[in-house]
Amino acid sequence: METLILTASPEDIRKAAEIIASGGLVAFPTETVYGLGANALDPEAVGKVYRAKGRPSDNPMIVHIAFPDGLGELAGQVTPDMEALAAAFWPGPLTMVVPRKPVVPDVTTGGLDTVGVRLPESEAARMLIAASGCPIAAPSANLSGKPSPTRAEDVIADMSGRIDAIIAGEPSRCGIESTVVDMTGEVPVILRPGVITKEMLSEVLGKPVGVDPAVAGNVSRADAQGSSAGTITVHRDSSLTDTPVPKAPGMKYKHYAPDAEMKVFAGPEEAVRSAIKAEQAALEAAGRKVRTLIYEDPARAARNFYTDLRCCDAEGADVILAAALKAEGVGFSVMDRMVRSCGGNIVIAGGKPAARGEAFDKGGREMIVAMAADHAGYELKNAIKDHLREKGFKIVDLGTNGPESVDYPAYGKACGEAVASGKADIGVVCCGSGIGISIAANKVHGVRCALCTSEEMGRLCKEHNNANIIALGGRLTDKDLALRIVDAWLGAEFMGGKHQRRIDQLDEI
Ligand code: TXA
Ligand code: MG
Repeated sequence: METLILTASPEDIRKAAEIIASGGLVAFPTETVYGLGANALDPEAVGKVYRAKGRPSDNPMIVHIAFPDGLGELAGQVTPDMEALAAAFWPGPLTMVVPRKPVVPDVTTGGLDTVGVRLPESEAARMLIAASGCPIAAPSANLSGKPSPTRAEDVIADMSGRIDAIIAGEPSRCGIESTVVDMTGEVPVILRPGVITKEMLSEVLGKPVGVDPAVAGNVSRADAQGSSAGTITVHRDSSLTDTPVPKAPGMKYKHYAPDAEMKVFAGPEEAVRSAIKAEQAALEAAGRKVRTLIYEDPARAARNFYTDLRCCDAEGADVILAAALKAEGVGFSVMDRMVRSCGGNIVIAGGKPAARGEAFDKGGREMIVAMAADHAGYELKNAIKDHLREKGFKIVDLGTNGPESVDYPAYGKACGEAVASGKADIGVVCCGSGIGISIAANKVHGVRCALCTSEEMGRLCKEHNNANIIALGGRLTDKDLALRIVDAWLGAEFMGGKHQRRIDQLDEI
């Protein structure tokens, strides 16, 4: 098939629209990444998109509209929250997953009863959709498994000969795909992070917004806060199977991979830079071609990341060494892509814990952790103890340390009192479920003990509740998850503001 290369002129866009209207495929620019479009309501046309990309057909497509009214034509229900987000962020890099109307064919949604809808900011995209007279289903216009295309030349490289036309427009302003938020539940949940962040959504809606645990878990593997021991640890895991199954089907595939082997370095900035330098020298000495990716600014990292991966491949790099970004705001979204691109090949660059590291308080003093458990929680407590010691924390162990049955209230109270009196900075308590001992600790005035069963809860109990004790269940939560929960708690920061007001109210009870 010969692929027409078009410009973004009104005349060319009209030509492209005719191709879409007659069931063909056109790649077009958007502010996030280039899309590969087909008439979303024509099952045959949509089927061609899967074939052109080499994409699994259970992976639903985002349906692009030209005007906000288009949402009501596709969505079974339009809620006030959807309207609020549309008003705030459309046109723009936000996709809302909503219940679908029967007019949207199965093949477009991968058989789901929901549909992802987006109104792009790019003018060429909106002109194309409007002129086609139909909503346009469009995944990113890359071959499946390749980095998403952010420049016309990337699309031409991947799609020439496979589709009818390419509108060769501007490079994409954002550089990573839209934020996908599931609007079908009470709490909106981010299924794929983008440049519109959780905080931005939450601010408009005036309520918390969740993040799919599979996404949060993925990013936390390269959490720079996660290390402090003097050695370099290597996690090697290309399967991505030990994280929960993501709700956006597209997020379960190894994605965005460059041809070169890629390794991500996380940890304190200086340690990361010197680890990358050392590794680069060693690899180059062995005759391998190395490229490094070190970004100063998250927005720029988002804009350039995919292009940089493609450039590394074009230059024939054997290995890409990348520095992790701080996983917050847009940095979180970039880290989501980075962890996927490297297939979980993450190096935690250690070094002595810096005085501002998590094991030290603001004055550089070693933090003291009080720990207590009953007979059903002592093994988990001891595993956490080892983990925290390795990170440089000082431990006060209040027992128990054996399987003989004891009553948890005394242990919860002892830990609570250690923290409330300032003898310890923070505490960890464990019993069978974590419930009883957390209740006991919370009886001590000044304690905010949170029972956590997921990393998300670990993070939130710090961000919102500034929990000073965390409770875990030895019979409910396995050791690895427990350590990740503790790390999420230690790595998060209290957000203050209205949350401080609520904590003040707690202290008055
Ligand atoms: O920025 C973007 O969104 C770009 C441009 C072209 O608009 N498009 C894009 O599409 O990234 P694609 O197909 O590469 O990624 C769509 C993502 C996938 O992870 C998919 O699983 C998820 O959105 N998705 C789409 N519809 C969904 C639905 N109904 N439920 C859950 N996830 C959905
Ligand atoms: Mg894609």
